[in-house]
Amino acid sequence: MFNLVLFGPPGSGKGTQSANLLHTYGLKHISTGDLLREEIAGLTPMGVEAQKYIDQGLLVPDEVVISMISSKIDEIADARGFIFDGFPRTTAQAEALDNLLEFKNTQIHMVISLDVPVEELARRIVERGATSGRTDDTAEGVIKRMEEYNNKTAPVAAYYDQQGKLTVINGTLPIDDVTQTLTRQIDKHLLPVA
Ligand code: AP5
Repeated sequence: MFNLVLFGPPGSGKGTQSANLLHTYGLKHISTGDLLREEIAGLTPMGVEAQKYIDQGLLVPDEVVISMISSKIDEIADARGFIFDGFPRTTAQAEALDNLLEFKNTQIHMVISLDVPVEELARRIVERGATSGRTDDTAEGVIKRMEEYNNKTAPVAAYYDQQGKLTVINGTLPIDDVTQTLTRQIDKHLLPVA
């Protein structure tokens, strides 16, 4: 198995790049943001609860997201590996993910962080807000989401750096160039030069 975390702040391109990488490596995409939006659209109790947090640009509580991820990993039993997008977002989530994967005799192999300045993140998100219908794609939403990212999510990078798994790349290049950089990094990991 090969398990990759695509890491980075809101709007850094995690979803876009996940879609570009999936087929190349035969991986399954797990986006907690997408899963939560499906719950919201289905008006499930979890969705109704999650919406209160998402609308305010706040992280949904760890226990909700961890139980959702755990079910999803179990549901996709035949995967060659996963791309985790938007998860883990707290150190508690990263520890829980390590435990879940260890139980399946696997682990996170690589964490690639997309580095994009905050002005560009805000520009992308507000532009997408014109058509996305996402309640958190607003100028105010970006401020709150960035605050949550800096306080709770940025420390997750240090967690993986300590494990020697973190690579940071420039996420400001055109989309296809970022995909190429990611592909090079992943190939280096999968096919190390002897
Ligand atoms: P989530 O859906 O995960 O949103 P996010 O992390 O804020 O990420 P985005 O989807 O906004 O951005 P992205 O990095 O995927 O970039 P994208 O490819 O879309 O989470 C939403 C909310 O759900 C959270 O705030 C939280 O409340 C809750 N939640 C989710 N997961 C959680 C968790 N684990 N724990 C707790 N709560 C959780 O690109 C953005 C835009 O930029 C697009 O328009 C794209 O076309 C454009 N773009 C991408 N790359 C480029 C490029 N290279 N150049 C120019 N434009 C680009």
